[in-house]
Amino acid sequence: MGKQIIILGIESSCDETAASVCINGNIVSNSVQSQQIHSAYGGVVPELASRAHDRNIVPVVHKSIQEANIHKNQITAIAFTQGPGLMGSLLVGVNFAKAMALANGIAMVGVDHMKAHIYANCISMEAPIFPFLCLTASGGHTHLHLVHDYFRAELLGQTIDDAVGEAFDKAAKLLGLGYPGGPLLDKMAVQGDSTKYTFSKPRVPGLDFSFSGVKTSFLYFLKSRLEKEPDFVARNLHDLCASYQQTLIDIVVDKVEKAMVDFPTKCIALAGGVSANSLLRKSFLELGKSKGVKVCIPPLEYCTDNAAMIAFYGFHLYQAGVRAPQDAVPYTTMS
Ligand code: KG4
Ligand code: ZN
Repeated sequence: MGKQIIILGIESSCDETAASVCINGNIVSNSVQSQQIHSAYGGVVPELASRAHDRNIVPVVHKSIQEANIHKNQITAIAFTQGPGLMGSLLVGVNFAKAMALANGIAMVGVDHMKAHIYANCISMEAPIFPFLCLTASGGHTHLHLVHDYFRAELLGQTIDDAVGEAFDKAAKLLGLGYPGGPLLDKMAVQGDSTKYTFSKPRVPGLDFSFSGVKTSFLYFLKSRLEKEPDFVARNLHDLCASYQQTLIDIVVDKVEKAMVDFPTKCIALAGGVSANSLLRKSFLELGKSKGVKVCIPPLEYCTDNAAMIAFYGFHLYQAGVRAPQDAVPYTTMS
């Protein structure tokens, strides 16, 4: 049997502290510690996020090593999220990785968080066929890529303003649903009528997206109705959620359908936190079926932020010879 390549993955870009162990490309442990502290503020407070990462990182890494049933001396390399994300949060993971790599005399691999989201699709046995179209929808990004292989993802389109996750979170906040908004709005929408209200959709040329107009039209709609009916939101919460969610999902799915005409592939895939959305998953499956292409959607644990995707993509980068130096620095925006 050849030498095992054991990668410890570390993710700390936003508000989840996560660690995972990947052995020869297989995920053997995956620990995530979410930060509840932000719920009182309706959104992520960067300084509180870094402090929580600082508290959580040692126990989370320890748990993932234990669950993988390995000793830390067996680890070949540490893959860490280098960016994009919140600077204070990234610094905790990057510095932890540096210290552990130095102490154990092992290599480091810097991983791009958004690329790791895309390749989370390849963790499963039902991996996509290259090249595939991938919609990556998260709290800070909305991207459409033509993914050629593990090292080349061609950006075809992206949002020109807000990300789709942001559009979910801001509307959820307006409706008083709390944090994190996207999953709560998704839950409320299940019992609602998605045809009850309509919100204007943007007309953005090419394969780019825009969500700020829909979000603003939702805000003004709520304001005008609340002036006449103070309990409007309370009485129509489910329908409001379902109608708004339908508008957002129609926008992204329509763009993917357009991209499928311009860039025909045998497979389409979803990535990022918003790919946990029940309507997006359903609509994507229907789109693939109607066009006769394979649809890949990561399991829920690999959609939202996790370290399995960092360890897995780190494994592929490590094998390709990618290494990070001890003076590697995090980056907050896309590389
Ligand atoms: O990828 P992710 O976990 O973190 C970032 O890299 O940003 O994505 C987080 C985003 C948040 O905006 C969150 O509200 C959204 O994903 N999200 C959802 C759902 N689950 C997470 N949005 C809609 N429906 C969901 N079920
Ligand atoms: Zn993410």
